[in-house]
Amino acid sequence: MPETTKTAKDQTYRLLEDSPDLYETPQDTHPFQKGIPWHVKALSTTVLVLLLYISILVTRNHLVVVRSCHAAEDADMKTLTTGALKYQTRPAWPDMTYPWNLEPSEELDAAWDNLMLAQNIRVTAQEMTRMGENTTNRARVENGDYVGVLGVWHHLHCLDHLRRMIHYDYYAANVTGKEAALYLTEHSDHCVETLRVALMCRADVALYSAEWVRSSHEPENKAIRSDANEKCVDWESLEKWALARALDPRGTRYLPGPYEHQG
Ligand SMILES: *[C@@H]1O[C@H](CO)[C@@H](O)[C@H](O)[C@H]1NC(C)=O
Ligand SMILES: *[C@@H]1O[C@H](CO)[C@@H](O)[C@H](O)[C@H]1NC(C)=O
Repeated sequence: MPETTKTAKDQTYRLLEDSPDLYETPQDTHPFQKGIPWHVKALSTTVLVLLLYISILVTRNHLVVVRSCHAAEDADMKTLTTGALKYQTRPAWPDMTYPWNLEPSEELDAAWDNLMLAQNIRVTAQEMTRMGENTTNRARVENGDYVGVLGVWHHLHCLDHLRRMIHYDYYAANVTGKEAALYLTEHSDHCVETLRVALMCRADVALYSAEWVRSSHEPENKAIRSDANEKCVDWESLEKWALARALDPRGTRYLPGPYEHQG
């Protein structure tokens, strides 16, 4: 690949290097070829699509968008955790810290398992009604409470699943026949879509920039930085709330469903 494709120009619109392919020069655009360079075309297309998107947002969906954003922050929005959560301010750009920086290992799995302890929680019939949940044929445990999962635990489950897919050579040996379906591409696609929607819904707008970390203008020689802070849920406050009503995956007996005939 000609070095000319890795000029400083490339970096003017590309901070995150998650698509190394984009640095490849397509065969039909030799650097000496006349015409619009491929990356300028790509950029123009991106800008056009963005402009179109923005104009649609502004003209058609503006009110809807604004309204739903406010709804998400309304204190009176129906949540089970109202009053239980604390918030904290912390740096928007995280360092990889222990144990999350470990290679796939028993220790890392234990950390993930620990994070997932409060995945399934007990929800009373009154709470289901208050939350506007349809109770028809919904899974219940022995005393009649319902089984609930808060969205963030679904998102974490998805992330853990994708992590295991990435390191499938490590995890494959222990995937049982029963679990095999979880490892199908379909489940991964569902997880990608779930996380895409979740990220876009919460739309972190912390500002990042890039610092040259080596004396070169090769794109890979810069590192993302951010001095931004963001407001975060204090995880302990949420976990404490959820653990108090967590269903033990080994010790919980479910009422056998379906329940159509049990009223
Ligand atoms: C509740 O769920 C049942 C079963 O899926 C469905 O038949 C019923 O229409 C739902 N009720 C409401 C109010 O959505
Ligand atoms: C697979 O199962 C064996 C036996 O239970 C266990 O020793 C090993 O740590 C497991 N490996 C993974 C990757 O979970």
